[in-house]
Amino acid sequence: MSSEALPFGETYVPSLEAYLNYYRRSIEDIEGFWDARARELVWLRYWDQVLDRSNPPFYRWFVGGVTNININALDRWVGTDVFNKVAYYWEGEPGDRRTISYRELYREVNRLAWALREIVGVKPGDRVSIYLPMIPELPISMLAVTRIGAIHSVVFSGFSAEALADRIVDAKADVLITADGFYRRGRVVELKRAADEAVALARQQGVEVKKVIVVKRAGNEIPWNEQRDAWYHELVNEAPLRAYVKPEPRKAEDVLFILYTSGTTGKPKGVMHSVGGYMTYVYHVFKWNWDPRPHDVYWCAADIGWITGHTYIVYGSLMNGVSQVMYEGAPDYPAPHRIWEIIDRYDVSIFYTSPTLLRLLRKYGDEWVEKHDLSTLRILGTVGEPINPEVWKWYYTKIGKERAPIVDTWWQTETGAAMISPAPGIALVPLKPGSATYPLPGIVADVFDAEGKPARPGEKGYLVIKEPWPGMLMSIWGDPDRYVRTYWSRFSRPDEGVWIYYAADYAIKDSDGYFWLLGRADEVLNVAGHRIGTIELEDALLTHPAVSEAAVVGAPDPVKGQVPVGVVVLKEGYEPSPQLEEELKQTVRKVVGPIAVPARILFVRKLPKTRSGKIMRRILIALLQDKPVGDTSTLEDPSAVEEVRRAIEEFKKLMKS
Ligand code: WT7
Repeated sequence: MSSEALPFGETYVPSLEAYLNYYRRSIEDIEGFWDARARELVWLRYWDQVLDRSNPPFYRWFVGGVTNININALDRWVGTDVFNKVAYYWEGEPGDRRTISYRELYREVNRLAWALREIVGVKPGDRVSIYLPMIPELPISMLAVTRIGAIHSVVFSGFSAEALADRIVDAKADVLITADGFYRRGRVVELKRAADEAVALARQQGVEVKKVIVVKRAGNEIPWNEQRDAWYHELVNEAPLRAYVKPEPRKAEDVLFILYTSGTTGKPKGVMHSVGGYMTYVYHVFKWNWDPRPHDVYWCAADIGWITGHTYIVYGSLMNGVSQVMYEGAPDYPAPHRIWEIIDRYDVSIFYTSPTLLRLLRKYGDEWVEKHDLSTLRILGTVGEPINPEVWKWYYTKIGKERAPIVDTWWQTETGAAMISPAPGIALVPLKPGSATYPLPGIVADVFDAEGKPARPGEKGYLVIKEPWPGMLMSIWGDPDRYVRTYWSRFSRPDEGVWIYYAADYAIKDSDGYFWLLGRADEVLNVAGHRIGTIELEDALLTHPAVSEAAVVGAPDPVKGQVPVGVVVLKEGYEPSPQLEEELKQTVRKVVGPIAVPARILFVRKLPKTRSGKIMRRILIALLQDKPVGDTSTLEDPSAVEEVRRAIEEFKKLMKS
């Protein structure tokens, strides 16, 4: 954890002092700082109060303010040079391409907004579920929904029908936008079939989806319901060519969108983001992270189905008027150099991805990188999980050729945009491989020990945020108590009026004040940069008739970071077998989706539990990593440890033979 001075050519001269000066001023008067930042955007009415702290932790930003995020992402560019600029260079997995300017995007959003309002009857505040692959109609749909003041709930296209149904039901969404299918590894994924199944499941749970809008993407045969389904292109063609829909005036503290994320119970949380706070925060953080310039081509290789895509492919990037690349398919298809080829083809200058993808591409070997000219790259970003220093150095030397700073951004679905990261758009601090450096302006972060006292420099503790920030979540959809419990109960002292946001991440602050993020401190896995709740997977396994008890833990994986492993006790009359293992994996695929499929299932006769019946995951994790199990005195039946050890040994033998 020592300081290393890294050279960045002519572009960035790291200066800790310059950054810390700006940072210090930002937190001397947090409200004043954000007040000035928000005024850099277009509002229909300015706020009466920057921050209402009267009912913590339900903070309200820019109270009295009125705006619509479309005004800053699209309308603002009318009559400027940006209007004729490329908004998206889109590339499909099979190699088909589309280029969409800000002008075209504006037209398309207006026409879809018109159709949604005039034909489908969507009203302000209504929830619209969006289940689309990485095609231009995804950002268009999001913008059209927020333009008319409705709330979108985007569900990642890799989630299963059941996962989609849960999210439709929780949000009570009665309109769904989806596609016939899309390409993944050369095959067509049947999205409409999954969407239909989800709609049927939602109906069983009392939520009726009255309109399903279908984008024609893959041209595959799909089931059709005459009364309920409509082709996206037919709907849009009913709108006037020059349809103009006035952006619906929205209160700053209205809900902009809901995005579901996994937590420590089986039920995903609907994270709510606000119109004015989210808009202000992501506009500025995008600028600080990427220092965008008129001729940049920026590429965030995430999926819009996650918060990274919401902020860094749709709202943050469009509000900054950048040209970006958007890619539909698998990153290593049809060959391991797909990513480098795209960077080369479009002259990408800012590239943002995850450590998991970097580990995968690095494994393929440098010859794939060397096929391409990557000299346009000037800033490289990462997000989603801790980046190993070796991978960091590879990214820095092999990809950035020691010219581009690595912007390691720590944040969460709940935080709206990056919170701890370098900010070349303000002043670049000297980088340390593996550290996300300092909190961004206006963000007061710290590391606490288990008692809630600031940890000593170098001591591992829990990451906390001590002041509200505009990009913060407003609440959990339909469950405000869960919002308070999950994020604000661990370290807050309400009697003293002290409210502390608990991120559920381990962290270290070193003696220079640099933050090192060390992964989740709760029962949530990070698989290839995606958050997956272990309890959700356990619930999925328990839906199988053979399963009596199930525990899911994360095992270390060289590419994905972590992979889920299921440890299962079978019911009387069932025997372990490779077929059953496969069936259980398929069950998880069906209930949650392909991203969550366990790497393996271990069959045991009993699980290590406390006397009160709580499964001791800590012991399972230690056994899987060949580490000492530690204190087992609270175990109800210590022989369970040997039982699990035996199952792991058997599995290893099986792998060898
Ligand atoms: C969790 C949030 C927010 C975008 C993607 C993930 C982990 C995120 C980093 C980083 C170390 C990171 C944390 C966090 N995480 N970025 N740069 N270094 N860990 O969003 O699904 O809400 O997951 O991802 O554990 O809590 P998410």
